[in-house]
Amino acid sequence: MSQQRDHWNSNLGFVLAATGSAIGLGNLWKFPFITWENNGGAFVLVYLVCIAAVGLPIMMAELLIGRRSQKSAVGALKAVAGPAWGVVGGWGVICAFILLSYYTVIAGWSIYYFARTMEWTFGGFPSGLATGDLFNEQVSNAGLQLALSLSFSVGTVAVVYFGVSKGIERIARLFLPILFGILLLLLVSALRMDGAGEALSFIFRPNFAELEPDSVLEALGHSFFTLSLGMCAMITYGSYIARHHSIVKASAMIVVLDTVIALVATIIMFSVIFSVAGMSEQVGGSTVGMLFISLPELFYSEVPFGVVLGPLFYVLVALAALTSTISLLEVVVSYVIDERGIARNRATFLCGGAIFVFTIFAALSFTGTPVLATMELFAEKVGWFSTADHFVSNWMLPTGGLAITLAAGWFISRKVSEGELVDGNQPRWFHYPTWRFFIRFVAPIAVASIIIAVLFGVDFS
Ligand code: TRP
Repeated sequence: MSQQRDHWNSNLGFVLAATGSAIGLGNLWKFPFITWENNGGAFVLVYLVCIAAVGLPIMMAELLIGRRSQKSAVGALKAVAGPAWGVVGGWGVICAFILLSYYTVIAGWSIYYFARTMEWTFGGFPSGLATGDLFNEQVSNAGLQLALSLSFSVGTVAVVYFGVSKGIERIARLFLPILFGILLLLLVSALRMDGAGEALSFIFRPNFAELEPDSVLEALGHSFFTLSLGMCAMITYGSYIARHHSIVKASAMIVVLDTVIALVATIIMFSVIFSVAGMSEQVGGSTVGMLFISLPELFYSEVPFGVVLGPLFYVLVALAALTSTISLLEVVVSYVIDERGIARNRATFLCGGAIFVFTIFAALSFTGTPVLATMELFAEKVGWFSTADHFVSNWMLPTGGLAITLAAGWFISRKVSEGELVDGNQPRWFHYPTWRFFIRFVAPIAVASIIIAVLFGVDFS
């Protein structure tokens, strides 16, 4: 620990990096789909409440633990809550390791679809092409899958290699504005489509008769995933904040941006889907359906300026995924640097390589490979990929989240948490006792209810 710790160069850079971590496949891939499955309106409202009542206070908690300790996952929890809490940090590191290993596979698909859409933009969309078949073809091609995942892993390693301010922050400063710009273009185009009105009312008009108890838990579970909470990612990013930046302001900004982007992505996708007769029936089946089966084709038949927006959309997916994968890798790498005393460049290659071994398993889950494609550890979760996703979303995030919440609310002294949050730079609306009430009671009860639900068989993945 004798070396100088790298820090964010600016508050904006930090907020963009953390927002980049939060905005990812969860926003573009999971959120629209679960909104669809849970019948929109009322679910969206419940989700917003979960984000505000549980996500925001835990975001502040993770960032404060990081900034206070100036250490990565394991060291941070040990330092602020006591030696035994190092286990929770270790749990977070393992969680990041597993999540990154399969997240990379889907991220890799964005490269494939970018290449394909570029081809269609310049060569025309092949008549009679069934995008469902195309998807199955690419996903079952082992060589292709490995090449795509490897490319994405190399990209992730290349950024983390350069460290926090020269790697992660730079990329976030460059990519996040591009990402916002592309989304804005897509939004403008989508809102001009016939289905826009129906999409907006589906998303924003609550009908509580349609809401099921499981939906509430699903909204809660997703708020963890989408904000990158429960696995020490925000503790790690928080450990690079210099003293004079307000954690409260930063948390609010990250949470609002992540939520707005999730809603915008949903408006875009539903506007397209509702514009096409019969499309809403087709979407149902699978999570990947919307992103990689329905949309590619629609860009070339329905969406205004689709020939330009098609490839841009997959650039968007890739950028959103990359700013998340670098954050995941940083959780593991910073642990190895801080706790094992290995230099960043070596640590990055070591961790990147180890994680890629598991990425291979995930990539081969779709190619009919024995065991990897057929294993069924959890009922109905067939294959390595689904098993890992189920384990992370249902078991690791809620348990890690509960532990972090308890640490922040009950095991860190009031003096410490108050000192971090009420530091003179906090916004006027912030009221420390309210935060404390939420982190001690509301958040733990909410997260514990997820765990209980999971024990009774509710599924979040
Ligand atoms: N928030 C990311 C998304 O929405 C996924 C994610 C979960 C994540 N936990 C993370 C990303 C930790 C980085 C670090 O896609």
